Amino acid sequence: MENIMERLTALCKRRGFVFPSSEIYGGINACWDYGPMGVRLKTKIKNRWWEAMTRMREDVVPLDAAILMHPRVWEASGHLTEFHDPLVDCKHCKARFRADDLGFDPTEPEAQCPKCGMKGTFTEPRTFNLMFKTFMGPVEDAAHVIYMRPETAQGIYVNFDNVRISARKKLPFGIAQIGKAFRNEITPGNFIFRTREFEQMEMQFFIRPGENPKWFEYWKEERMRWYRAIGIRAENLRYHDHAEHKLAHYAQAATDIEFQFGFGVDPWHELEGIHDRGEFDLSHHQEFSGKKLEYFDEATRERYIPNIIETSAGCDRTLLVALIDGYREQEIKGEKRVFLGFHPAIAPLTVAVFPLVKKDGMPDIARKLFEELMPHYDAVYDEGGSIGRRYARMDEVGTPFCVTIDGQTLEDQTVTIRFRDTLEQERCAADRVRARLGELIAQA
Ligand code: GAP
Repeated sequence: MENIMERLTALCKRRGFVFPSSEIYGGINACWDYGPMGVRLKTKIKNRWWEAMTRMREDVVPLDAAILMHPRVWEASGHLTEFHDPLVDCKHCKARFRADDLGFDPTEPEAQCPKCGMKGTFTEPRTFNLMFKTFMGPVEDAAHVIYMRPETAQGIYVNFDNVRISARKKLPFGIAQIGKAFRNEITPGNFIFRTREFEQMEMQFFIRPGENPKWFEYWKEERMRWYRAIGIRAENLRYHDHAEHKLAHYAQAATDIEFQFGFGVDPWHELEGIHDRGEFDLSHHQEFSGKKLEYFDEATRERYIPNIIETSAGCDRTLLVALIDGYREQEIKGEKRVFLGFHPAIAPLTVAVFPLVKKDGMPDIARKLFEELMPHYDAVYDEGGSIGRRYARMDEVGTPFCVTIDGQTLEDQTVTIRFRDTLEQERCAADRVRARLGELIAQA
């Protein structure tokens, strides 16, 4: 579908999913705010992740570490020396590019600017560290520089022993975290695909050295299964193994779960990275902090630095995937219908309750049913506008079920349940709606 990003950006604003940040001041590049529907969708995605990654597992525990960390962390992690992109500018049109994205060598005399078409106009590549800097305390000098974390992972590594000892965990076990990360990206864009402030959902799984291939495969499969479980279509998902020369500085093997986003020359882009980080992180933190981070394996009587398999997903990027994968346009009797086909597990609202008209006591019955459903489902009550408009509003925010109280309800206490995807309706006793919705969600 052409221009899907433009249509989605407009829908997201119209229906309160995502707004440009500081819009009344003209916006700020690559920063976005989440509105009421966006927050609900994001919260559902995070809840599904927490459930799959911690609540339903005995071997993974949660953590919430601070965004600001000791500056030595970023020396140990390699981010101060390695976390940069090569940047070039076109001297003619002033366009800026990541040199490694151009697909040719910008220092060649014939190198042509993709924007203005001029040849030989690129500056020398400059490396550019992606970490945002600020100062801790009132003195703004080099001794007080600190960084906004560019990944949540480091908060997990430095707490490895705190968590292991307090949670009485033995290897293999994992620590999971959701939190904000910041990167001063050179080429942000494509709506919320690449932003400068974003949220990650990361899990670090600590293992005995040598078990890396087994756990790497295990987590690749688990993570793919999760995307399928939240309703993302299989044909839009695939694995992409990184070639050795393309590995990040910390990784000894890496596979991305990619999604068919649709933009760019190659429509497939990274959604989540699964990395075999070996002993890189704990051995570096041991060296830089001077604190022993070895593990004593009681079963084998060995002492070693645990290896790490990481699953690193973007929360905002998963939300974008849910939007793109769910976006549908249909023509019905000459009229265009747009809806978001979210799986009920992540739909911002699960059910909407409407009185057909604002008379004959229908609003009272509808409100009573809404209040019954509210503790159990994300529910909304709406009596404003024609029934067609109310259905259309719910379609555009991806609400799977709409329940309507109509004339027949007054006679036999049944209501209609309307299904977003098929537009079919079934009648159900009003006092069975809660149970019926439970059945429908379980079957989805
Ligand atoms: N701890 C490893 C790590 O951070 P990464 O591949 O750089 O690995 C992991 O990032 C995930 O975080 C990506 O797959 C993506 O979903 C998300 N992500 C990274 N940079 C992002 C950005 N600038 N905007 C939005 N999401 C981003």
